[in-house]
Amino acid sequence: MVEVVSNSPQQTEQFAEQLGKVLTGGETIAYFGGLGMGKTRFTAGLARGMGIKADVSSPTFSLVHEYHGEKTLYHFDMYRITTFEDLCSTGFYDYLDWGGVLAVEWSENIENALPEEKLIKIEILRGEDDESRILRMSGESIYEDSWR
Ligand SMILES: Nc1ncnc2c1ncn2[C@@H]1O[C@H](COP(=O)(O)OP(=O)(O)OP(=O)(O)O)[C@@H](O)[C@H]1O
Ligand SMILES: [Mg+2]
Repeated sequence: MVEVVSNSPQQTEQFAEQLGKVLTGGETIAYFGGLGMGKTRFTAGLARGMGIKADVSSPTFSLVHEYHGEKTLYHFDMYRITTFEDLCSTGFYDYLDWGGVLAVEWSENIENALPEEKLIKIEILRGEDDESRILRMSGESIYEDSWR
């Protein structure tokens, strides 16, 4: 586990960008952390690190957004996903097989369905003031080292 403190949305994006640069494809980035913690902002930085030039927005209503670069990023929002049937209907299991990078908001809701292989857990906690967040990453060392 590696933990860093972010004092602004920009800093959160920078940490995410560093992680995005070391992704090789096939990773699942599972976010844990409540409303407005910065999961979507983090994903914007991740995309930048992956060399994707696109504006990342919340996939709340469409459930998944796709961003194409050298590698593909699939950005999911599982906020409304509560059953196995719901999850299947998002196509999550199909996307897992395609070798892209999955970024999954509200992973709390699908914790049992997360793959073991190339799993990167990102927990975002409130910091000391409104603009600060504690970012915790658990995954293989090639990923954790991007914050060391
Ligand atoms: N250090 C920080 N890192 C990230 N976001 C921050 C930080 N400080 C303040 N913010 C603000 O918190 C909000 C995070 O919004 P964002 O949509 O990324 O959260 P989210 O976790 O995706 O929320 P939701 O659960 O609604 O999808 C933004 O308005 C951002 O400006
Ligand atoms: Mg979001």
